[in-house]
Amino acid sequence: MCGIVGAVAINNVVPILLEGLQRLEYRGYDSAGLVVSHEGLQRLRTTGRVLELQKLAETQQVHGYAGIAHTRWATHGAPSERNAHPHFSGSKEQNSRIAVVHNGIIENYESMRERLQNEGYWFVSDTDTEAIAHLVASNLKKIPDLLEAVCASIAELRGAFAIAVMEETRPDKIVVARNGAPLLLGLGASGNYAASDVSALLKATKNMIYLEDGDVAELTNIGYRIVNCQQGEAVHQVERTVHETQLSSEAIELGPYAHYMQKEIFEQPSAVANTLEMVLNAQSISPNLFGSEAENIFAQTRSILILACGTSYHAGLVARYWLETVAGLPCNVEIASEYRYRDPIADAGTLVVSISQSGETADTLAAMNYAKQLGHPYSLAICNVAESALIRQADLRFLTRAGPEIGVASTKAFTTQLASLLLLTATLAKMRQKLSTETELRIIADLRHLPVAIQHALQVEPQVKAWAKSFAQKRHALFLGRGVHYPIAMEGALKLKEISYIHAEAYAAGELKHGPLALVDSEMPVVAIAPNDQLLGKLKSNLQEVHARGGELYVFADADAQITPGENLHVIRLLEHGGLLSPILHTIPLQLLAYHVALERGTDVDKPRNLAKAVTVE
Ligand code: F6R
Repeated sequence: MCGIVGAVAINNVVPILLEGLQRLEYRGYDSAGLVVSHEGLQRLRTTGRVLELQKLAETQQVHGYAGIAHTRWATHGAPSERNAHPHFSGSKEQNSRIAVVHNGIIENYESMRERLQNEGYWFVSDTDTEAIAHLVASNLKKIPDLLEAVCASIAELRGAFAIAVMEETRPDKIVVARNGAPLLLGLGASGNYAASDVSALLKATKNMIYLEDGDVAELTNIGYRIVNCQQGEAVHQVERTVHETQLSSEAIELGPYAHYMQKEIFEQPSAVANTLEMVLNAQSISPNLFGSEAENIFAQTRSILILACGTSYHAGLVARYWLETVAGLPCNVEIASEYRYRDPIADAGTLVVSISQSGETADTLAAMNYAKQLGHPYSLAICNVAESALIRQADLRFLTRAGPEIGVASTKAFTTQLASLLLLTATLAKMRQKLSTETELRIIADLRHLPVAIQHALQVEPQVKAWAKSFAQKRHALFLGRGVHYPIAMEGALKLKEISYIHAEAYAAGELKHGPLALVDSEMPVVAIAPNDQLLGKLKSNLQEVHARGGELYVFADADAQITPGENLHVIRLLEHGGLLSPILHTIPLQLLAYHVALERGTDVDKPRNLAKAVTVE
């Protein structure tokens, strides 16, 4: 994870570096730092947030025309000032320092460190990044050009990473390199920039170049050059397309909201409407929505393998129920980090579907590539970031158009993933002649109504807020669901634990009596998702089992589910009965519950401890 920014401009770059870091803070916030060149390399580092770094920069009046900056999610070495980036190699006295910021992991850093120590380099941090700084310094002794020295260095490094490098003796340029972790260039009128993602540079420019693996770029305030140094190939200059990003800086502003998570919860009606735009005005569903090759590939699809992590994995679990029931397709859903280290049996008729908000999750990317190596010929990516590695590597793609999701806890990405997966289900069902025209029209009508239905679901907020007060006093919680709502219970538990730090577990309600019932007492709140479906009767029996043991039940029910509130039995009814869309609608109050409990507990909602948004390391 971590976020990196670099800038070389005709004016002071400190404001753009700080603005960029603020936008990238979602990627990690264990420490922050920057280096600018002004009479040598000036470095500032703090274990605080970017705001702290900004205060330091103001009090110390740091400025310069070229710089690199970093916000950290710690991998090697505890979060401390000593381990904060940028890292140096070389001596201040001789004005010969190299500064490096880095996102990713250097897998061979131990052997590299040993080698460089033997060469006489002195390590002052516990990070793998410092090895990069010394390696570049070592290569610069043999290869005097920084870009070429960085090329030689990345050829010696193993792992997925993106770096930015500065040389004290060349204050007019920075060099950046990408190898498996996201990095792009921004080309502006007053300078040139680099960052881990677009949002960091929107204040400076809209013209972006998405670097490819092996690309190393040198930036000055008047130009840039890119070479590619893939291992085993000769270094050669490359041209990369300049894209004008459609993302506006307003889309990443907080606006009237207190937190990004709150904003993103309330953006869900429009996020879903944007995602489904192509369908909402249509009278029928077409495979072309997934790419020009989709019709051909879907015609050969006999089963589905879904690969994803975290919340995106939960979306996949919901989709399994839909794909089996509506499209009659066998479906496996796998946690990407597990799948990539198993020996699963490939099947050429299986379509691999990867789901990811960021499209940069290392495990999901690796699992998708592994599935291909094993012999699965086709892949489809469902993803929220158009320029991401996942989108670029998949054969077919569907973009969730949720807009930038900045809160670390995923909300609108999840519901737009679900809407996309329902669309995929209907498309596959139609191609397999499992969908009558009547059902197709009903699904289109349901999807068309979805933004309004979500709006209605959001209206339960005041009731959820009232529950949050007592909930916030608890240390543990159980979440129950059955069938397609079991993954929704899992998602509710994940949201609660990640932002309120209350320990929460989800169970398929029928599993309760096989063990977890032993946990139930008056101190254990039990949240149940209780839509009026064919499993409601069975779920009610499970709720009785909790009630009889003194457990306190918090039930989210459909408008028409017959569950009467009583002692230790609290009920919130959604305004509508969701039908196929019910898992999407029942997600909304669970997001609101986590959000309000976290507010009651005073946690950092958008930046929960120990976490980061895009998990670009294993
Ligand atoms: C939880 C959350 C994470 C992500 C997971 C995968 O709120 O956001 O569990 O869902 O890290 O990330 P993506 O979807 O970007 O692959």
